[in-house]
Amino acid sequence: MTKSKNIVVLTGAGISAESGIRTFRDTGGLWEDHSIEEVATPQGYAANPELVLSFYNARRAQLSTVEPNPAHFALAELEKGLMERGGYLTIVTQNVDDLHERGGAQNIIHMHGELLSQWCRACDQKFKSDAAFTLMSPCPKCEVVGKVRPDIVWFGEMPYRMDTIEATILNCDQFVSIGTSGAVYPAAGYVQMARGLGKQTLEINLERSEGSHFFLETRLGKAGDLVPVWVDEVLGG
Ligand code: APR
Repeated sequence: MTKSKNIVVLTGAGISAESGIRTFRDTGGLWEDHSIEEVATPQGYAANPELVLSFYNARRAQLSTVEPNPAHFALAELEKGLMERGGYLTIVTQNVDDLHERGGAQNIIHMHGELLSQWCRACDQKFKSDAAFTLMSPCPKCEVVGKVRPDIVWFGEMPYRMDTIEATILNCDQFVSIGTSGAVYPAAGYVQMARGLGKQTLEINLERSEGSHFFLETRLGKAGDLVPVWVDEVLGG
């Protein structure tokens, strides 16, 4: 097999699980305790903004208590190694945490938004903040009160940078999915796109995802164990 130079990695909640961040659909996952409609839709926010703000305030506050794990660090190493080879790694993440950044990776697309980014619906500007927000919080840009919402892509909203993601998959040698159940589109459909384009495809997950049969290869286990091994193979092999 020729060495991959250009790789797209799609990550999901499973890559951050060993850092202590709850996944969504596993036993003990976030959607066991919360209703998607209430906390992850524009309609839920319109109906009860305080509830939605406090849900994301708690998740944002948790970030300062967790650390990247070996899978995040390994991807940063892969990014560096591929660059030295004249290639690239693009991390397309569904995760809204900042653990890829803190693990040292740079080329990251947060297709579902970021906990540390806020969006003012009055002036339409986005800004970084790790603070807690309430309906009394003013926007630091326009100072309007009560219009700052989490910069999170909710169900029914368009994920970010889809044109860039698709162009990157089109040009890659290998598409790898790590720690995602494959339950949410469009991310779940990227493997089919990659397969249709004749790319190498690999899934690394604790259990088979919903789209597992689309991958040429599946490795089952913890991301923290399997990702460093795979990265060593790519860079060393
Ligand atoms: N290593 C590897 N995989 C793991 C680990 C681990 N340590 N722990 C759990 N997993 C796997 C689970 O087996 C599961 O298949 O990670 C997957 C997590 O799936 P979900 O909870 O559905 O998370 P994700 O796929 O990221 O969800 C997609 O759904 O609710 C939305 O917007 C939210 O971005 C999220 C999207």
